[in-house]
Amino acid sequence: MTPLDLRTGLGWDTHRLAAGRPLILGGVTVPSELGLDGHSDADVLSHAITDALLGAAAQGDIGMHFPDTDAAWKGADSIQLLHHTVQLIRVAGFQILNVDSTVILERPKLKDFRMPIRQSLARALGIDETCVSVKFKTHERVGPVGEGLSAEAQAIVLLARL
Ligand code: C5P
Ligand code: MG
Repeated sequence: MTPLDLRTGLGWDTHRLAAGRPLILGGVTVPSELGLDGHSDADVLSHAITDALLGAAAQGDIGMHFPDTDAAWKGADSIQLLHHTVQLIRVAGFQILNVDSTVILERPKLKDFRMPIRQSLARALGIDETCVSVKFKTHERVGPVGEGLSAEAQAIVLLARL
């Protein structure tokens, strides 16, 4: 019998909040006064999950695969980059078992968007939504996240080598 080859991976990201920007989390646009700022759509959650997948497969990080300077990915949604990463992980011989994640954002409240975000991520990941968890936390009004200047996301994934 082949021994079970499981790989775990950790991802983290942060982006500033700014006026006039959309708040996109896991490919879902959440109504908000402020949105996430960055070179891309600044989807902090998709970025954290992308890094977690790459980490689990020991395939570098998001900046290595999708550099800011690469015209091929200019204007691409982060959820598309996540989907591309999933294909890369598959080619490397891995299957995704589950994803857990946390978005840390002071406001708005995100819990009503949990299901659409899980469904959007599950589509990009090619797994059932019951295998995709998204949690939300404030930063208790302290630090840059707590003061409403930025958001963070953390993700952990489990892969099985086929
Ligand atoms: O950060 P705190 O522990 O106070 O968060 C309590 C709950 O509020 C979380 O478990 C989550 O369900 C919800 N929450 C949310 N949107 C946020 C932050 C927290 O829906 N931006
Ligand atoms: Mg990012």
